[in-house]
Amino acid sequence: MTKRDSTTGVPLLAVLLPVLLSWIAVSSVASSEVARLQVGYYNRTCPRAEDLIRNIVHAAIRRDPGNGPGLVRLYFHDCFVRANNPSLRGFGVIDRAKRVLERRCRRTVSCADIVAFAARDACRIMGGIGFAVPAGRRDGRVSNASEVLGNLPGPFANVTNLVGSFAAKNLTADDMVALSGAHSFGRSHCSAFSFRLYPRIAEDMNATYGARLRKRCPAATGRRDRVVDLDPRTELLLDNQYYRNVQTREVLFTSDVTLLSQNDTAALVDLYARNRTLWAARFAAAMVKMGHLD
Ligand code: HEM
Ligand SMILES: *[C@@H]1O[C@H](CO)[C@@H](O)[C@H](O)[C@H]1NC(C)=O
Ligand SMILES: *[C@@H]1O[C@H](CO)[C@@H](O)[C@H](O)[C@H]1NC(C)=O
Ligand SMILES: *[C@@H]1O[C@H](CO)[C@@H](O)[C@H](O)[C@H]1NC(C)=O
Ligand SMILES: *[C@@H]1O[C@H](CO)[C@@H](O)[C@H](O)[C@H]1NC(C)=O
Ligand SMILES: *[C@@H]1O[C@H](CO)[C@@H](O)[C@H](O)[C@H]1NC(C)=O
Ligand SMILES: *[C@@H]1O[C@H](CO)[C@@H](O)[C@H](O)[C@H]1NC(C)=O
Ligand SMILES: *[C@@H]1O[C@H](CO)[C@@H](O)[C@H](O)[C@H]1NC(C)=O
Repeated sequence: MTKRDSTTGVPLLAVLLPVLLSWIAVSSVASSEVARLQVGYYNRTCPRAEDLIRNIVHAAIRRDPGNGPGLVRLYFHDCFVRANNPSLRGFGVIDRAKRVLERRCRRTVSCADIVAFAARDACRIMGGIGFAVPAGRRDGRVSNASEVLGNLPGPFANVTNLVGSFAAKNLTADDMVALSGAHSFGRSHCSAFSFRLYPRIAEDMNATYGARLRKRCPAATGRRDRVVDLDPRTELLLDNQYYRNVQTREVLFTSDVTLLSQNDTAALVDLYARNRTLWAARFAAAMVKMGHLD
């Protein structure tokens, strides 16, 4: 690119001016990023973008259903921190979509939008939950590993910690409870919750479930970190079973069972456990809201 510009002899200012102007335009809207996102953002510039992504996500989930939960978690992490995480899966799907879109509509669709569309498609394919995704995100250029621990709540978080870290992203306790339902599919490595199995099974874990997990995740982990389904009942379905698992304390993380330890969040767990339709609607709305972060 640069080489061609310099050999064609275009005056420097003619090359730089459009760049400067667009840079100024981008900087001035940076603070109103939230308002800028819109459904159908690529209607004119890349009308087939959402279709192409959906086909790619479909094929990827048919090949390996684990890509579905992988993509949903990737979206959560993309929204909360700008960083890669070794236990994330689904990057391959995003790369494939990016390559196809670069061929069809060069430098048009941002990676952040691809991640959002792909997560939405995974929710529809594996949970029957459909929703429109406002788009127009610009890609973050920074990936800062030291931001990860500060932003993302860990599996040991209690409800106070969770409400705090979601509030820092303008998400309410209600959003947090609805979004936690994503733990109704996918998997976890033993290392993420073995603190609840050893030296003794945590008091707030179902004892029968804990005994089963101990067999799957031995105390001496050795070199291999095994994986366990987040939802022991319907591991390939994004549904409200998660909330029933919370109620019987058959969940892997403290951050799951802790939803029972505060009246307001416990009431929501009960509500969502009883009404899948209601949960799905709240989940979809919270997914869209979570995507309105820088
Ligand atoms: C509330 C705070 C949360 C905590 C502490 C948390 C923690 C975790 C942990 C430790 C894992 C297992 C990772 C591994 O060992 O491989 C996991 C998996 C997962 N999380 Fe969360 N998470 C939270 C919220 C969310 C939210 C909001 C979403 C999406 C809306 C989400 C979606 C998922 C999915 C789909 C998986 C399975 C990933 C896969 O199968 O590859 N989580 N989470
Ligand atoms: C894109 O098209 C859809 C369907 O016709 C419409 O609902 C949406 O508002 C349009 N968005 C933009 C930004 O043009
Ligand atoms: C990464 O984030 C930390 C904490 O916000 C900050 O102190 C550090 O300067 C950042 N590093 C880079 C390379 O941006
Ligand atoms: C939650 O954990 C924090 C420390 O991370 C602690 O200060 C707080 O008291 C805990 N809250 C509850 C309700 O256990
Ligand atoms: C925070 O959320 C409120 C209500 O959901 C919304 O009106 C506001 O624009 C959001 N602010 C930011 C910075 O996202
Ligand atoms: C433990 O799980 C079993 C099976 O779902 C359930 O019947 C039981 O009530 C649970 N125990 C507690 C304390 O929630
Ligand atoms: C939570 O509910 C219990 C039982 O219904 C009640 O005794 C307690 O006062 C409530 N706590 C708060 C903080 O509302
Ligand atoms: C479940 O929630 C939906 C949507 O809010 C509502 O229309 C329906 O009546 C609820 N069903 C039950 C059994 O409460």
